[in-house]
Amino acid sequence: MSKTTTFVTQPSLPPLEEFIPYLEKIWENKVLTNCGPFHQQLEEALCRYLGVEHIALFTNGTIALVTALQSLRVTGEVITTPYSFVATSHSLLWNGIKPVFVDIEPDTLNIDSQKIEAAITPQTTAILAVHCYGHPCNVDAIQKIADTYNLKVIYDAAHAFGVKCHCGSVLNHGDLSVLSFHATKVFNTFEGGAIICPDAESKARIDQLKNFGHAGEINVVAPGINGKLSEFNAALGLLQLEYIDEAIAKRKTIDETYRRRLSEVTGIQCLQDSGELVANYAYFPVLVDDSYALSRDALYDHLKTKGIHPRRYFYPLISEFPMYRGLPSSNPERLPLALNAASQVLCLPIYPDLSMDTVETTCRLIAGFR
Ligand SMILES: Cc1ncc(COP(=O)(O)O)c(C=O)c1O
Repeated sequence: MSKTTTFVTQPSLPPLEEFIPYLEKIWENKVLTNCGPFHQQLEEALCRYLGVEHIALFTNGTIALVTALQSLRVTGEVITTPYSFVATSHSLLWNGIKPVFVDIEPDTLNIDSQKIEAAITPQTTAILAVHCYGHPCNVDAIQKIADTYNLKVIYDAAHAFGVKCHCGSVLNHGDLSVLSFHATKVFNTFEGGAIICPDAESKARIDQLKNFGHAGEINVVAPGINGKLSEFNAALGLLQLEYIDEAIAKRKTIDETYRRRLSEVTGIQCLQDSGELVANYAYFPVLVDDSYALSRDALYDHLKTKGIHPRRYFYPLISEFPMYRGLPSSNPERLPLALNAASQVLCLPIYPDLSMDTVETTCRLIAGFR
């Protein structure tokens, strides 16, 4: 095994020389931001690639989440999952909204749609669900509940770039879906994000909100934020798109190898997909259960001593952080499956340039304790 450290992910970058002409163009026309030509081109290219009608680019996924909630005028209480990256529920706090955590499904680790109804109160205005690891939520069941109780649905689709379910892009579900183009994501623009909008009107409102609430040169119609993606990031996104299929194909090969090599290891359970027709292989989570020879944390420590740095995504649960733990819905008794997953999960390294030798070594190390 090489002595280098292998992290859970490594950003994909296109050949540097191919980015230079984009930079020359920016230097030439001196448009650096404010929805310039590359921003416009990336919105069009992403709509084509993702199979969506309208997209609004953002400086990152977190500001996009905060803005998505504002654009739908969500208030009061929002039902969400404790099993996610903390930005999901932080976006609620930034809007003065109370998160109401609901437990997850044991197989997909997504919010359990069957437990949502019991958490609805007269203050509930929306559901903020996460397609965790890029595996689609039960979108039909969630929409049915939303329709029955007149709730908005926002999907945190930070992990779900390019994922397709039974009826096309998973991003077309709910009222809005939010993507992240952070360095660690399947598609990155260094930092970046987007909101998928169902129609031109909602995109226009979101575009105002991400630009200080400006509606024309001298009109400000809302207390908006600065959420714009710069021309540098947009240009990079255009180039990244040329390599995205190749990158996802390489991830797929790694995913298949892990599954093949770990399938026989007692106590290691590979997470299955949730029926998506096109997956993106964003993460490779395994659950380390009691029948494995080591605890999850002991395996985590052992791999690190060998230069393999997996991550315990998502441990701790969001509901365990100080700003959330006092909420009634954070009571551990209400979240047994989420707590169990958080105590067992280990995300193994997966990224396009990860060598198959390292994948094999990781599998050998894990299998060595069977
Ligand atoms: C589920 C989830 N939601 C939101 C975010 C926030 O995205 P960003 O880092 O682009 O702000 C991330 C990752 O960073 C994430 O994993």
